[in-house]
Amino acid sequence: MQKKILVIGSANMDFSMNFYKMPERGETLVDDGGVAYVPGGKGANAAIAFKRLGADSVLCAKLGADVHGQKLYNYYKELGLNTSSVKVDHDNPTGLAVVMREGDGSNRIIVYPGANNHLTTEGIIEAFECNPDAVYLGFEIPFQTVVNAAKVAASKNIPIFIDAAPANKEYDLEKLPPVEIFSPNETETFEFTGIMPNSMESSLRAALALSRKVKAKYIVIKQGARGAFLYDGKRYNTFPAIKTSKVVDTTAAGDAFTAALTLEYLRTQDIREAIKYANAAGAITISRPGSASSVPTAEEVAQVMSCAE
Ligand code: RIB
Repeated sequence: MQKKILVIGSANMDFSMNFYKMPERGETLVDDGGVAYVPGGKGANAAIAFKRLGADSVLCAKLGADVHGQKLYNYYKELGLNTSSVKVDHDNPTGLAVVMREGDGSNRIIVYPGANNHLTTEGIIEAFECNPDAVYLGFEIPFQTVVNAAKVAASKNIPIFIDAAPANKEYDLEKLPPVEIFSPNETETFEFTGIMPNSMESSLRAALALSRKVKAKYIVIKQGARGAFLYDGKRYNTFPAIKTSKVVDTTAAGDAFTAALTLEYLRTQDIREAIKYANAAGAITISRPGSASSVPTAEEVAQVMSCAE
């Protein structure tokens, strides 16, 4: 049966700029690598990934009453997202992310949150009326909203999945009720724990430090080109990334990874298979340009998985 996922998170218009190399401080560079406004935002990217991967995807987010907001809303409708919980903020603009993509596909992102910062608990209570199988939360909205949404989910016995991005060490993770999966990337793990998980030993230390803050059944640390690290409270494993012939754009790879991880885990209850599936989704996402538009379909992930076997 199709899983229904309620995503409570951010929606941004991304101003994506491609260039060969980042200018030094005080330096001006001219580079015609290309610019575009494309749909993004960690919450919306995940909601789109859920839809493409075969779930019934409900997005709870806040857009500004502006051109970017209207474009994003139309895009979600075209893709078939359930937008009944996408609200319009008449006082604040749609979130805008400046995505700076270098020649090697890596990125640096700065987000002006706009309406995302005004997604309050008030706006999310009714979103739960869709009776989701799971709730998926990201940190690009106020942390208090995340905590409150998680508490509502817990009170209804709805499993909670957290993509811990972007991180802020001021967030009091202890306030979260028990969650199913908590998934930061390496820099987010460092921000929360002070430990960079760049080896097996440091990943385990970081996962243990996270597990002292968050009551999570599984901690899955996204490690980019190295794959993912799993800690289940007793044991740990590493899962190598699936190689892609060319890294084009890493934007939204983490969003696609955690959405795929969540959905496949809900379908199979097998965290190890879910991580392999998520690695395939991430590998496809980095092989093409764009933010929301680069997340894969279920068919694409199945094809990559069959080649990787
Ligand atoms: O994870 C990628 C996303 O981060 C971008 O789409 C941007 O909007 C920021 O939210």
